[in-house]
Amino acid sequence: MNVTRGLTPRATGLQRLFLRKSVAQMRAEEAKGELKRSLSALNLISLGIGCIIGTGIFVLTGRAAANFAGPGIMISFIITGVLCIFVALCYAELASSLPVSGSAYSYTYASMGEIAAWIMGLLLVLEYGLAASTVAVGWSGYFVSLLKDIGIHIPPALTAAPGVEVVEAGVVVATGLINLPAILVVAAITFLLVLGVSESAKVNNIIVIIKLSVVIAFIAIGMFYVNPDNWTPLVPAEIPPPPEGTTRGFWADIWRALVDVITANNTSRYGIGGLIGGAATIFFAYIGFEAVSTAGAESKNPARDMPIGILGSLLICTVLYILTSAVLVGIVPYTELNDPAPIAKAVNQIGLPWFAVLVKIGAIAGLSSVVLVLLYGQTRIFYTMSRDGMLPPVLSRVHPKFRTPWINTLIVGVCAAGAAGLTSLNALSDLTNVGSLAAFAIVCITVLYLRYAAPDMKRPFRAPFSPATPIIGALMCIFLMMSLMSNPATRNFFLTYLVVGIVVYFLYGLKHSKLAQGEQVPASPLAP
Ligand code: ALA
Repeated sequence: MNVTRGLTPRATGLQRLFLRKSVAQMRAEEAKGELKRSLSALNLISLGIGCIIGTGIFVLTGRAAANFAGPGIMISFIITGVLCIFVALCYAELASSLPVSGSAYSYTYASMGEIAAWIMGLLLVLEYGLAASTVAVGWSGYFVSLLKDIGIHIPPALTAAPGVEVVEAGVVVATGLINLPAILVVAAITFLLVLGVSESAKVNNIIVIIKLSVVIAFIAIGMFYVNPDNWTPLVPAEIPPPPEGTTRGFWADIWRALVDVITANNTSRYGIGGLIGGAATIFFAYIGFEAVSTAGAESKNPARDMPIGILGSLLICTVLYILTSAVLVGIVPYTELNDPAPIAKAVNQIGLPWFAVLVKIGAIAGLSSVVLVLLYGQTRIFYTMSRDGMLPPVLSRVHPKFRTPWINTLIVGVCAAGAAGLTSLNALSDLTNVGSLAAFAIVCITVLYLRYAAPDMKRPFRAPFSPATPIIGALMCIFLMMSLMSNPATRNFFLTYLVVGIVVYFLYGLKHSKLAQGEQVPASPLAP
């Protein structure tokens, strides 16, 4: 395959599904966008950390420890960290070889063709749009808790999605009707995005420093309050226990858990299955390192700096996550961690209320910036897809004054706000995780595919130990996906969403794709 050939002539029949956008064409479109190449390696690491640290560590760690892994949550963080390193090496190879924005969608379009790019687009809606709603719900938990500290009480039914129990001090005080704060934060950020306030490197750096300070201070202060008794047993006994007569023992338990996961039947709490369930849940905490690749067109030296940005931000966060989770379950018994603001709960428990307030303020600032980056990412993915003709042109209509895709942004904002206000954190994070894991698996497969289909393509960074690296990365992603799909609600929604999405491609994208018609995508009028 020649990935650097020029425009494709008008295509017909089955050929159209597999049309590829050429790298030369993407670079030409990129050049017309006139983005400034101003980001250094450090800026890229900061960009990554800005997107990675969020609801995952601040909220989901508690839920994953309480419901799945117990104190073994530290092991879950190691499992997922290893998976992400494999995936990050693949992203780094693609980002250094194809330094254009648009990320995974563009990589797939250039390699495996249009239908794969469309499926990637569908998955990115979960990875960005739905993730924004998930982080907004996490934001709401910390916001409500901070308001309570200063004596403002929002009626509990207005702080959670319909049917979700609101628990205060271990007692159920209400059943949710709507998560109003989550809706409001998405609305406010949508408004900023319409006005064109995308994240500047400077603001991002400040927020990253705040987030890192909160996390590092939590580890440094919290470790003196750890009660090692809370760490034992590291892996609590499985619930429900395996049936009588089941062979037990370390290897037998691992084997049983593996079979349960692979057959999408991993319903146990704790035990080895719980460690894997915990790893799949806190996968959310790692999403974001790949966002560095979306800045390919703005990086000063993408060939060298993209791998540094992607891997550097991931490695820093992996170490911080393992330490934070160890301290958290060392302070608060894991059974008490199913809390909307678990890190603040731990700080309160050690009797430092002033520090709890600082943690909450830091979390609120940090989570706001993650919502902004994710919503921004979602609007730009729709924008690119619309300019490719895969989505209606209204999604790439640019506001004459603000130079932002305002209609697109409003549509994304309304949908994300609706999901945040009406859906539970568990459902949102599980769906985001399934979609993102599928997207990551495709990225690994893309690396593998290009190694064989375009062996001579210039690759300033090569994922080491290929083909083992992309194969292990893809298999680990599929493995954690199967664990999440053990929940029938997640499985049914995800599969229905994919089928409906593919039908939409055949009804719309296939007919309107500019590439299939041999048309050139026009220069971008967006503000840089
Ligand atoms: N990793 C990001 C978070 O945890 C998406 O909020």
